[in-house]
Formats: sequence, structure tokens, C-alpha cells
Amino acid sequence: MSPKPLAEMAAEVLATPGGREKTALSRRHAAAWFAARRDGALPQVGLARAPDHPARPEAPQLVDPRDVPRRKPGTPQGRIAILHAVAHIELNAVDLHWDIIARFAHVPMPPGFYDDWVKAADEESKHFNLMADCLEAKDSFYGALAAHAGMWRAASDTRDDLMARLAIVPMVLEARGLDVTPGMIALFQKAGETGAVAALETIYAEEVGHVAYGSKWFHFLCGREDLDPKEVFHGLVRRYFPGGLKPPFNDEKRAEAGLPLDFYWPMAQGN
Ligand SMILES: [Fe+2]
Ligand SMILES: [Fe+2]
Repeated sequence: MSPKPLAEMAAEVLATPGGREKTALSRRHAAAWFAARRDGALPQVGLARAPDHPARPEAPQLVDPRDVPRRKPGTPQGRIAILHAVAHIELNAVDLHWDIIARFAHVPMPPGFYDDWVKAADEESKHFNLMADCLEAKDSFYGALAAHAGMWRAASDTRDDLMARLAIVPMVLEARGLDVTPGMIALFQKAGETGAVAALETIYAEEVGHVAYGSKWFHFLCGREDLDPKEVFHGLVRRYFPGGLKPPFNDEKRAEAGLPLDFYWPMAQGN
């Protein structure tokens, strides 16, 4: 049986509030999509309305980034705060990847575009569950602490422009994850927390793919419109991140993800 149109599946995930429920539905829909694709079929993408804001659980309370409590990273409470912040990022990422499918379903794209974002959404769902498991193993849970309210800003800002969405979400924000995750892994290694280290290593390895999908489809769209990708990228970063991008950059992983040095170095803060 062919699954329901992909954009409808995306809208259902976006409308599901609870973290565990959202990620379970996300993984089921991803499995249905890939099962249909394995049969050689091209399932229908269809159209759906993407909500302005995805449904979210009642907790965590969403607060201004300045009011997110800071705890010393070297303490057990500090490590819980880090895992909680990463869980929050992963849940946002689940919604971001389904949102790009639902919101831009009217833009004609090759089947591989949908394969990539469904796979990314499936991986983010796994990442959220890994972080939620780590929190629960420490007698905490996702929702126990306040979280950053500004995470959906990038999605709202780029809701009308697929090229901007690709530049800002995977190529800037997810690329930033590649810069900061090694430091986070080292911190948990130092604390001897092998479970969290393994989870973060899985996340780190798979995030390279998400940045690569962003770069691939950004270049695809620039090619289709006969635009210079570097110039377009610089223009979008200047518009959405007027303060510039924060170094240091993980040049090696960024290269692996198809992000050339001359895309982001000229946009570094202070340049
Ligand atoms: Fe992730
Ligand atoms: Fe990601």
C-alpha cells in the first residue's frame, strides 16, 4: 500500500506536541516513505499547510535565551543542562526538516530532495530520543529545565524562500553544530560519561550529512536559476546574520559536508 502524500505526513508530525510522540510518528512516517521508495515507486508528495509554529509540549517552558539558566559545564547539573539544550535543538530539528517538506511542497524538486530531508528528520528523531534517554538515565527529563524560545526564528524568517531556508538552517545553524560538538564530546569524556559520549558521537557523525544535504540542494537551486552560489550565500548570511558567523570553524568537517572555506570565512565575525 502506498503511504499518504508526504506533505500530509509532514504536517502530522508538525501538529504532534509531545517529544516522544512527535519522534515516534516521525520515524514511522520515514519508514513508510522509504518502504514505498524501495519498491521503486515515487510516492506522492502532495500539498499541505505548514503551521506557523509546530506543536510543542507544555514543558519545557520557553524563555528568552538570556534567561536560560547557565550552570558550570564541569558539574553534574551543568552536564544535564547541556544534554537538555541539545535535546531541545534536536526536537526543533525534527520539525525543521518536516517543515521544509510541507512548506515548500509546491516547489518542484527531484525525489532525492525528499529522501534527504526525510532521512534527516528520521535521524533528528533518533537524536532527540538519545538525548531524552541520557537525561532520564540521570533522573532528569526533557522539559525539566527552561529552554531557548528563539529556535523557530530561522524557520519563520525564511518561510517564503527555499534558498534562504537551505542557506540559514543546514548551512549555517547545523554547520555550527559541527563546530561545537567536539568540545561537548570532550567534556563528557572527561567526566567519564560513556553513554552521553556515544550518543553525541552518533549525532556528530550524522549531522555532517544534514549540512551536506543543505549544500547540495542550495547549489542545485542556484544552478537552476543561473546564480553564483557563493554570492547568494554571502548575501543571505549578511541579511540574516548581520553580526557575522562565529569562529572557530570546524574546517575539516565543513569541507566533508560540502561547505567551501570561501563561503563562510569571509562572513566570520570581525571580518
Ligand atoms: Fe541532530
Ligand atoms: Fe541535523
